[in-house]
This record gives sequence, C-alpha cells and structure tokens, in this order.
Amino acid sequence: MANKFNISSTIRCDVLIIGAGGAGLRCGAEILEKRPGTNIVAVTKVANPQKSHTQTAQGGMAAVDPKDPVDKPIYHMFDTWKGSDCSADQNVIKKIVESGWEQAVWMENHGMHLSRDENGRVSKRTFGGHTLNFGETSAFRCVFEADRTGKGIMDNVWGEALKGGTSFINQAIATELLFEGDRCVGAIIFRQKEGEFVAVLAKATVLATGGDGQIFRVTTNCRQNTGDGLAIILQAGLPVMDPEAIQFHPTGIVGPGILASETLRSVGGILRNMDLEPFMERYAPKMKELAPRDLVARAIETEIREGRGILNPDHNIQHVWIDLRHLSDYIHDVQIPEVSGFFKRFVNLNPKEDLCPVRPSNHYQMGGIPTNEFGEVQKSPGNLIAGLFAVGECASASFHGFNRLGTNSLLELVTMGKVAGEKAIDRLDGEEVELPGNAGEKTFSLFSRFMEQAGKDNPGQIREEMRMLMTEKVGVFRTEEGISQAIEALRGLKERADNTALSSRSLTMNQDLIQRWELNNLLAISMVTAQGALKRRESRGGHFREDFPERKDQFNYHTLAYMMEFGDVKLGERPIDMSIYEEKGEHYEKFGMIERKY
Ligand code: FUM
Repeated sequence: MANKFNISSTIRCDVLIIGAGGAGLRCGAEILEKRPGTNIVAVTKVANPQKSHTQTAQGGMAAVDPKDPVDKPIYHMFDTWKGSDCSADQNVIKKIVESGWEQAVWMENHGMHLSRDENGRVSKRTFGGHTLNFGETSAFRCVFEADRTGKGIMDNVWGEALKGGTSFINQAIATELLFEGDRCVGAIIFRQKEGEFVAVLAKATVLATGGDGQIFRVTTNCRQNTGDGLAIILQAGLPVMDPEAIQFHPTGIVGPGILASETLRSVGGILRNMDLEPFMERYAPKMKELAPRDLVARAIETEIREGRGILNPDHNIQHVWIDLRHLSDYIHDVQIPEVSGFFKRFVNLNPKEDLCPVRPSNHYQMGGIPTNEFGEVQKSPGNLIAGLFAVGECASASFHGFNRLGTNSLLELVTMGKVAGEKAIDRLDGEEVELPGNAGEKTFSLFSRFMEQAGKDNPGQIREEMRMLMTEKVGVFRTEEGISQAIEALRGLKERADNTALSSRSLTMNQDLIQRWELNNLLAISMVTAQGALKRRESRGGHFREDFPERKDQFNYHTLAYMMEFGDVKLGERPIDMSIYEEKGEHYEKFGMIERKY
C-alpha cells in the first residue's frame, strides 16, 4: 500500500526555508543581501506568508539604544537571565542582546515604520521584567509599530524575499527531513492544492515552523501552530529541548483567547479582581503589573482559584479584569488601537468605558529544536547536523530559558534569522546534494496508514479532548498526579486517533488528511511536553509544580526529549551555558543562580 504514493518531482535549490514567517524570511533576507541571486525556496503551510503567526505580534521588540542615557546591554542581559529563571544560555543572551539595536535599525532601513515620539525619536515602551540598573526601576527599551509590530516585520521581510526572487510554495507542509548520513539535504513537501509529494533538495535547510500553542485549549496562537517542525525533528530521531517550558500570557481575551498585549499594562492598565482590588501589589510589590509573565499568570490563576474571579456568562469561564478606563484618549487611539478594537469586535466592550475580561492564555514555547548560537541544529550537545538550521519559535538556542520576557521573541526571531542566514551561506559553495534512496519512505508509510485506517472516532473531537487535557493537567499549575494522568490519557487518545477514518481519501485539498497529520504532531508534542514536565520535579519559570514549588540546582540543565515511537520518550540533558558568570567580568555576580523576586 505504501508504494501507492510517489515523489512527483524534485526541486533543487540552494536554501530551503520551511515556514515563511518572520524568522524564516529574515533568514532569507540576510542570505539574499549577502549573496544576491541565491536560489531560495520558502514553504508555508498557510495561504500566503502574510498569514503567518508573526503577523499577530503586538507589543514590540526589545533593543537597547546605544544613545540611551540610562539603559545598557548588561541590564537587558541581566533581565533576560533573571526572567529565564536562570536557565537561558548566557552566550546566546549576550549575542542577541548586543545585536538588538542593529536589528531595529536594519528593520527601519528596510521599510518598517517604528512609532516615533513628538520629537521624532523612536518611541520606547516598557514591558514586564525589563529594568534599569539590575532591577532598580522599569526600562523603556521596547521599540514598536503601534500595537501591530509583527505586521510591520512581516511586510518588511516578505518584501525583501519578493525583491530577492524567493520562490514560494504556499499551502504546503514538510512531512519528512532528508538526510545523507548525518547531513540534511532537504525535505519532502506535500502540496495540498495539487495533492503531490515533492522532494526539495537544498544545501541548507532552515526550519522556521513556529510554535505548538494548539496543544492547549485556550491559546493566543494561530490555528496553524501545531508543532509540525518539532514533530518532524522527533521523527528523524533528533531531540526537542525543554518542551515543558511553556509560557502562558497573563492576558488572553476571555472567549477567543486572543492576545491582549502586555502593552496594556505597560501604558498603565491595572489588573483587578471581583472586588476591583488591584491585586498584583500582593504578588509583586515592586513591579506589580509589570512583573514577568509567569508570575502574573500564576497570580491571576490564584485569584480565580481562591474565588476572586468573575464568571463570564457567555463562555462559562472565570476571569479577572483589565482596567483601561483611566487611560487618555491618546493612549487608546494611538498606542493601543488594535487591542482596543479586539475588545470591541470580539466581546463588544469599549475599553474607554468598560472593564475588560482577561485570563491566562497559552502563548509561547520557550523550548524547541536545540541549536547553537548560530541556529545550527544539534543532535546532542556539541554535535551538529550539517546543513540543518532552526530559527524562531520552533527553535531553542536558548535565549529565553524557562520564561521569556515580553518583546524578547521578536528580537530573537530577527537576530537568529540573521545569524542563521550568515551561517547558511557558508554551506552554499559545497558539493551538490543528491536524493537519498529512502526519500519519502516515512511519509508514504504514514500517509498510507492515514488512508487505510478505519473507525468511527472523530479526529476533531480527539484534538479538543487533548487540548482540554493539556490545559487542565499540564497548564499553569502542574502536579505529579495530574501529569501522570495526562500521559496515560494521551496514550489512549493516540490509540483512538489510530482508529479514525478519513471522510475522503483524495490527496487533493483534503483538509481531513491535513488535520489527521496535525493531530499526530500535536499528540507527539503533548507527550514529550508532559514527560519533560514529569521528570522536572521542581518549579522554574513557566514550569510550575505545585508539589515541588521551588527551583532546585539539581535541575540546572536543559531537557532533551527524543521520541521515535509514540510514548517511548528518552530524556537527556544539555548543560546551561553560564559563560558570562564564568568569565568573571564586570557584574558577573549578577549572572549566578540568583534569587528571583520582583
Ligand atoms: O503582549 C504582547 O504584546 C506580546 C509580546 C511578546 O510576546 O513578546
């Protein structure tokens, strides 16, 4: 049965980019700028790159302005390290923070319109956990384009890609990476519209497939964020790093879960419980609403658990309020027009007059495909896969450790896109790559199974049950018992998934088939997330174990999770880079295993 499929054509290119969002196209832009004429193929799962998840980023990008009279890169490095709960890699922190302003300038020089103040200078806002002088006071270091910064980035890098002649394959998924020995030589791409499998051979392959937010019931992530890049990495026998490090954004709009940007708190929005108490004072006396996200998300959940939430009658869900009523018209109309519009459109409220309902919503995976500081994928610590890169949310270098600071993802995305692009160029003068003899075998066997499976269960129903399960048992608060139950339940869901029939067996534009494939990916990523969370018997950043509420030094490492057969998870470790601390330069003592209070 497996041989009923075939590779309909083979495309040769210099660079294959899988995922045409901000990170992937920033990588492409760098390559085209340094080596014009490079033949790049960019594959996207969505109808066109502008539908990528980067497009939804609101708040902005952290970047220390060298002309700023009070801010310094070392403060940003410290905030990132402290925010990560001492689990980001310090070589990566240094590299990315030091490149911040150069990236902001690059964006502007290539057409992005950063918002400006009345004196014509680039405006800056503050975000949670960003401080001056090692925690003394809030730092204003986030540059932005109103509250639609992601759209500005996408316009910019998509334009660069088109200008440089990038070939796009839209509505297509990568189902298998291709290897010659330990060298990646491209991927099998399934084109949904044509219903065809194509081999794309490349001297450099860049994974930029975004996050896995769809493993949770309530998420700020787009529908397409199903952890596909991570799943094909696991299928190839490679590890996923720190899958248990998941971020819940404190303020998702109740109902759709859509992001209500941290900008709202940056410009003075106040979180209130059912008694209208501004409760953050009790949880983070100094930083209050501008404490890092993991702390604010847990504070909101605690208010709700202890009976101080408000029940939303439409969605039958508890929430707290964000109060924006006291903010000026200027702030509403100029600085947060997009989010204000969301409240109007999705919950029929006017933030100038009404309290707005919010609660934590899954937002970001801090972990991902392990890479070094150049975006090169690692098979094990220090052991690289030649020709394979990963950037953006699907990758982990690790800049964020176990808790990302707001605005650090756009900075990471553009910086790692750039450096991976530079590294990829080094591979382009090497010898041509050939189609491996076993190309497509894994894909055809998987897709044959999808086509042949029988049964009455419904993949959509299984997906929803999985999302609910992960939210309840592997969400903001976790316990040994809950995670173990989740692991058992995931095995059951996988068994059920393997007993579902497609409603159509056509390969062309078969959404059932794509959703079936996504379900496999979601279940795989849920399983490694739960297993990582089970083994880590401590609390660190976004991973909070109620049964082990403290951080423990014995877990000062990154988790590496391998899973070739569903449920058979092998866990390894990668050391955390502490080079700033170990080099003993100025302020090195701030980069030890410091206490985390805000
Ligand atoms: O809240 C926000 O605007 C999100 C920013 C981020 O995740 O960096």
